[in-house]
This record gives sequence, C-alpha cells and structure tokens, in this order.
Amino acid sequence: MEIQEIKQRFGIIGNSPLLNRAINIANQVAPTDISVLITGESGSGKEVFSHIIHQMSPRKHGPFIAVNCGAIPEGTIDSELFGHEKGAYTGAVGERKGYFETVNGGTIFLDEIAEMPLGTQARLLRVLESGQYIKVGSSKVEKTNVRVIAATNVDVYDAVKNGKFREDLYYRLNTVPLRIPPLRDRKEDVYLLFRKFTSDFTDKYRTPPIQLDEEAQQVLINYSWPGNVRQLKNMAEQLAVLERDRIITAQTLLTYIPLEMGGRNLPMRVENQPKEDFSERDILYKVLFDMKRDMVELKKLVADIIEHGGISINHANHSQTINQLYRDIELPNAPEAQFTLQQPVNSNNNSGNNANPYNITQDAEEVEESLSLIDKESDLIRKALKKHKGKRKLAANELGISERTLYRKIKELNL
Ligand SMILES: Nc1ncnc2c1ncn2[C@@H]1O[C@H](COP(=O)(O)OP(=O)(O)OP(=O)(O)O)[C@@H](O)[C@H]1O
Ligand SMILES: [Mg+2]
Repeated sequence: MEIQEIKQRFGIIGNSPLLNRAINIANQVAPTDISVLITGESGSGKEVFSHIIHQMSPRKHGPFIAVNCGAIPEGTIDSELFGHEKGAYTGAVGERKGYFETVNGGTIFLDEIAEMPLGTQARLLRVLESGQYIKVGSSKVEKTNVRVIAATNVDVYDAVKNGKFREDLYYRLNTVPLRIPPLRDRKEDVYLLFRKFTSDFTDKYRTPPIQLDEEAQQVLINYSWPGNVRQLKNMAEQLAVLERDRIITAQTLLTYIPLEMGGRNLPMRVENQPKEDFSERDILYKVLFDMKRDMVELKKLVADIIEHGGISINHANHSQTINQLYRDIELPNAPEAQFTLQQPVNSNNNSGNNANPYNITQDAEEVEESLSLIDKESDLIRKALKKHKGKRKLAANELGISERTLYRKIKELNL
C-alpha cells in the first residue's frame, strides 16, 4: 500500500521523514509473522502503529487484543495470558482460557513489555519460538498461532542489563525494531496535527473554528511536547471547548502548558524535560474531575433537602459522599469520627426530633474502618501525592517504591 493511503486509512497525520520511515517499516513488516518491538515515548503513537500492523496483515480478520503488562498484577499475569486449570491456585474455581488461546489466529499487543515478570517472559519466549505453552497448573502442552507486537516507552535493554529482562527474549522480540519518533523530532508535523485535532474537536463540540496567531504558532512548534501527540491532542480539545476568543495568542496558549511541563520558559531544551511529568497533569485532571463529581453530589443532596425536607433518593450514597469529603478535606484536628446520615424521622411518629430532621450525627462507631490493604494502599498513595503536590518522584521516595511502581499503582488503583 502507498504511504499516503495508509495515512488516510488510519487517520495518521504528519509528513516528516521520521514518521514516514516508521510507516514504511510497519508496511513492510505487516504481512509477515515477525514479532515487532515498538519503542517510543509516551503518547507518541505506539498503539496506533500496533493497529496498523495488525490491520495490514493476513490476520486482519482474526482477533486483536491489547494487554498492558504493567497493569496486571504479577500473581495473575500468567493465568491471564496462558489460562489456568481448575484449582491451579486458591480461588481458581473454574478453568480459564488465556489470551494466547482466545487470540489464536490473531495478534496480541503486549504494552509496557519491560514490566513483564521474568517467569512470564520464559513462557512468552517459548510460545514465540514454538507456538507452545502450558496453562498454569497443567502439564499438557498446548499449541497456538499468535503474532506478538510489543511496545515500551523505556529502554528494554536497560532492563536486560539489570537482569530484569531476558536477553534472549529481547532479541527475539526486537527482530524488527520500530521506533516512533517523539513529536519534538518532527516539528513539521506539529501544526498539521494541531489543525486536524482542533477542527475535529470544534466539529464534535459544535464550537467555532480555532486559529493561532503567528507568535502562537511559533510557540506551538518550538515547544518540546513531553507528552507527545496525546498532549497536543488534549490541548486542542481544551482550546476547542474553553476559549471564547477563537484567535489564540501565544500568551493564551502558554496557559495550556503546565509549568512542570516546560510552560515556565519556552522554548525549552529537551534534556531538561523529566520524561514522565505529563502524567502529573493527568493526576491533576483526575483530582479536578473528582472534585466536580463531589460538588454535583453535594448539590443534589442540598436540593433534596430543600425540596423534600428529607433525603429521598440514594441517601446511602450521599452519606458516603459526605464521609469521603470529610476524609478528603483532612481538617486539622479532625476527630477520627464519621458522619452518618440517617433517614428523616417519620412525621407521623413525631418525637420532637424535627429541629434536626436528618439527624446528622457524629458517631465514631457507626462506620467501621476499612481494613482492606487495597484501601490502605490507595490512601497512602493519595496522601503521599498530596503531600508532595503531585510530584510522583518525591511521593515514590517517601513511599519507598520506585517511580515506575507508583505509576503502575496509580493506574491499577484507578487513582
Ligand atoms: N500521527 C498521528 N496522527 C494522528 N493521531 C495520532 C498520531 N500519533 C498518535 N496519535 C494519537 O495520539 C494519541 C496517543 O497515541 P497512542 O495511544 O498510540 O500513544 P502510545 O505511544 O501508545 O502512548 P502510551 O505510551 O502512553 O501508551 C492517540 O489518541 C492517537 O490516536
Ligand atoms: Mg499506548
């Protein structure tokens, strides 16, 4: 297929030599069954390329599945990928098919491959070499025919040097390396992408078209884009929704680049960019969205109280919201107590309680403290992030875990 056709078909924007080169490699390797290791910074388009390769391969009518190796707990990843027998471990009540069985005849995309545990790597190597695997808790050898595309935003060879990644597997996966260039190395694509994204989003939200003035265009092109195409896309979406003045100046544009992502002094040298900082912004978004949700809940609650003189719907949820808020606010000297909302006292049964019909009580025994490790873990992570104002590196230090583990936990626990 012609390179322009491929771009058209998969919505790929850009015309820089590095991007075209990556598309050419994908095009050449797609019809084969060769494993591909896609490397590239976060948000650069690795997943997009995995789809291109699958869709242009003879397996295109077969299944495709993307698995994030960094997000599956070490204890279950073998069974997710390769399946297990009934009773293979405590809790394995039934038999389970793994992805290598269900995707037979198709393609599996193993994202964040450097996070794969060593034991799983051994199983993966075997399946790559011979198409054979064994379910957890079984001794029967099974056969499958799956093409593997792996991706990483860290240097897997570093993991090899540190004994965390099998060298033989590394070479096996890396038969055809496919490097997706960071956006700052394809400056000529930045404005093209921006125009496409803003026009898509203004269509989607039915807002007037967006334009950048001269200076803003320069800022856009010279910025280092640590979050790559994803960051650019997010910014385009925000501009399309939020800006009243549709001719964007450099100054306005700068407000969309968080300080810790180089918004302080543009343009910024690439070496100064902490690689993963963009996700601090994701965390911030999350916090804002959570706050908004809490506000909506609270408004509902107040409206209920005013309208019905009582709490008519979902009072259980409301009381949870209040408890959560109470915990979140972390008032200085807050007592270790919880608010519980009780149902309004029935008016027939007039017991003189009307002064406080909702009977908001502070009751230390009413709500049991959660002893779940997961809750505790999320709590600690939240607190550490809060203490260090969302700086993951510092939070990870304080928690005594690596930044990467913290990153994974944040994803895993959906914080
Ligand atoms: N050349 C491109 N043209 C248009 N859209 C693109 C291009 N490259 C990436 N995108 C878009 O950018 C976003 C990020 O791409 P993708 O999810 O493939 O990145 P990634 O490298 O897998 O990121 P991560 O490492 O965080 O998983 C997606 O919405 C994707 O559609
Ligand atoms: Mg991805």
